Amino acid sequence: MRRRIQVNQLKIGMFIEDVEVGGAETASPFRPFLVSSAHDLQTIMSRHVMSVVIDIEKGTDVDRSAPPSMAKDQASFNAMLLTVFSVKQIDRARRSIGEIGPHLQQVLADARFRQSFANDAAGSAVERIMAATFENAGAVIAVAKLKEKDEVTFLHSLAVSALMVTFGRNLGHGEEEVRLLGLGGIVHDLGKVALPEKILTKSGKLTSEEMALVREHPQRGYEMVSKVGQVPPPVLDICRYHHERYDGSGYPGRLSGTKIPYVARLAAICDVYEALTTIRPYKRAFSQAEAISMMMTSPGHFDSQLLSAFVSKMVISGTLH
Ligand SMILES: [Fe+2]
Repeated sequence: MRRRIQVNQLKIGMFIEDVEVGGAETASPFRPFLVSSAHDLQTIMSRHVMSVVIDIEKGTDVDRSAPPSMAKDQASFNAMLLTVFSVKQIDRARRSIGEIGPHLQQVLADARFRQSFANDAAGSAVERIMAATFENAGAVIAVAKLKEKDEVTFLHSLAVSALMVTFGRNLGHGEEEVRLLGLGGIVHDLGKVALPEKILTKSGKLTSEEMALVREHPQRGYEMVSKVGQVPPPVLDICRYHHERYDGSGYPGRLSGTKIPYVARLAAICDVYEALTTIRPYKRAFSQAEAISMMMTSPGHFDSQLLSAFVSKMVISGTLH
């Protein structure tokens, strides 16, 4: 009997019948084999396989009692990072995030307490994000995945910005366009930051009124950022339209298809990918393969061409881990 599983569920002892890369079957024929060593597992991982078909009559099945394990504390998270990056790359990424931090915190604090946009601090943050991602994008984005409670907003803005900068570069955009994408990543959720504290910190389910307020955040953010005269239109578009969906079912404008500005379609992909792969203590996170497979099977949500480009230029290329 065959079973399709995510690549992070693979264990020694499983019999792999076939693999899927980027959501589609591999073009080259795959030779079924029994996973008998850690080296076999690494070989599969290094091929950027997204899901795997196993035969549970020829090998072991997944342990259905345990959810896929994700590193949830600093020590196991560090061990996970070290399977992909060198100590030097991780240290450099941590140092960069430490330098970006104060500028980004100022942008968030101004939005939260003064409902205003700190344009200069955002400019400083994006310059540093562009420099940090220039050679070390994978490590910066990976290090920002683990978020303690008080770091969630700050590291989400940073990581979405880093993803947009890197995706923009991998798509061939010039550095000035890339800077606007990075700035858009920083400001995309500023309207959410300005929401009442009790909604932001509520642990239970939001009421429909509270949900309606949350759904106002793209427009609120847009108004806050546009008060500063010189913010370029693509940055405002990212802020206002990053929750639109390709089939017209998003908000606030229910825009569809290419009526959604290109930069906002790009932001939607980076925003959702970042949110799905975020690791928080005591909270289930999705692996890269799970996140991509969920996004690719979410009909009507994303610009499918742009999502395919994200998979090939960010995932299969090995930029993201
Ligand atoms: Fe948002």
